[in-house]
Amino acid sequence: MPITQAPYGTAPDGTLATLFTLTNAAGCVIKITNYGAIITMLTAPDRAGQAADVVLGYSTLAEYVADTPYFGAVVGRYGNRIAGGRFTLDGVEYTLARNEKGVNHLHGGERGFDKVVWEAEPGEGPDGATLALTYVSADGEAGYPGTLSAKVVYTWTNENVLRVQYQATTDKKTVLNLTQHSYFNLAGEGSGDVLGHEIQLFAGQFTPVDENLIPTGEVRSVEGTPLDFRRPHVIGERIGADDEQMTLGGGYDHNFVLDAGGGQLARAARVREPGSGRVMEVWTTQPAVQFYSGNFLDGSNVGKSGVAYAHRTGFCLETQHYPDSPNHAEFPSAELAPGETYAQATEFRFLAE
Ligand code: GLA
Repeated sequence: MPITQAPYGTAPDGTLATLFTLTNAAGCVIKITNYGAIITMLTAPDRAGQAADVVLGYSTLAEYVADTPYFGAVVGRYGNRIAGGRFTLDGVEYTLARNEKGVNHLHGGERGFDKVVWEAEPGEGPDGATLALTYVSADGEAGYPGTLSAKVVYTWTNENVLRVQYQATTDKKTVLNLTQHSYFNLAGEGSGDVLGHEIQLFAGQFTPVDENLIPTGEVRSVEGTPLDFRRPHVIGERIGADDEQMTLGGGYDHNFVLDAGGGQLARAARVREPGSGRVMEVWTTQPAVQFYSGNFLDGSNVGKSGVAYAHRTGFCLETQHYPDSPNHAEFPSAELAPGETYAQATEFRFLAE
């Protein structure tokens, strides 16, 4: 039975949500709900073949509805921040929800793609079970122009690869930046902080931020900074360094510009947890990735196994276009026009060594 489904409760708008369980030939499991396209569980084997759940999250829909820092969700329409909650497109200014400190737009606004119920269709792809999720965002939703038809297809392969394929079309020119906001802990969720994880990022540059985590517009070399992960470093090694960007980010919360440049699937990151031997590689067609070291986790979210998620007990690798691109003509464009099809893909590949 590669896919089973069960009722997952009622969303605030009265829509019924479902929880899908995808099991691969290796016996590893992903659970996904069509509320927010949220991955609630993902198991991966360690070097001894012992599986553990490596994503942070809750067991019930009510907990996701009550309070979540985007655990496991698809973020849209625009992942990360848009300065001042506004941008101009073809001479027209659009005002978005200012849902961060009343100033900036974050992760699609008050009710982003992480808080709506998507249409779900389970299936079988050439290399694993699939779950296709679609959502039509009305013209003007959260302030964005255009009716946007979005589709996310999750595939869980027999080789423990989670493939996420994104597609979208619009009937008016708009901006778009979809991403996946899973928090990982390769030692197992709830097992402590991620500071001992070793991470490598295939990125020679990053976009520095200001005190509101908004890109200044500069694209800076990582050379000689605590953000140089071209060779593997443990997350904790330089996280407390006396460095302006580390202070402004409260740790790692930066957009890394991938050397591959985007456009075709290329390796963005490799993370290894020395204790378990679990490895996760991230491959993407996107030009950048947000490496976020869970700095806002403060123990107020109690996870599915009853453990409070304390500071830096999970990390995210959000493949994306650069934050605030709609206000930076020099960044790769996040625009989508009628007649075009937005298409991006990201793979999270789980191995052990
Ligand atoms: C992203 C942002 C962070 C934070 C988290 C959610 O990673 O870059 O600053 O908003 O999402 O808590």
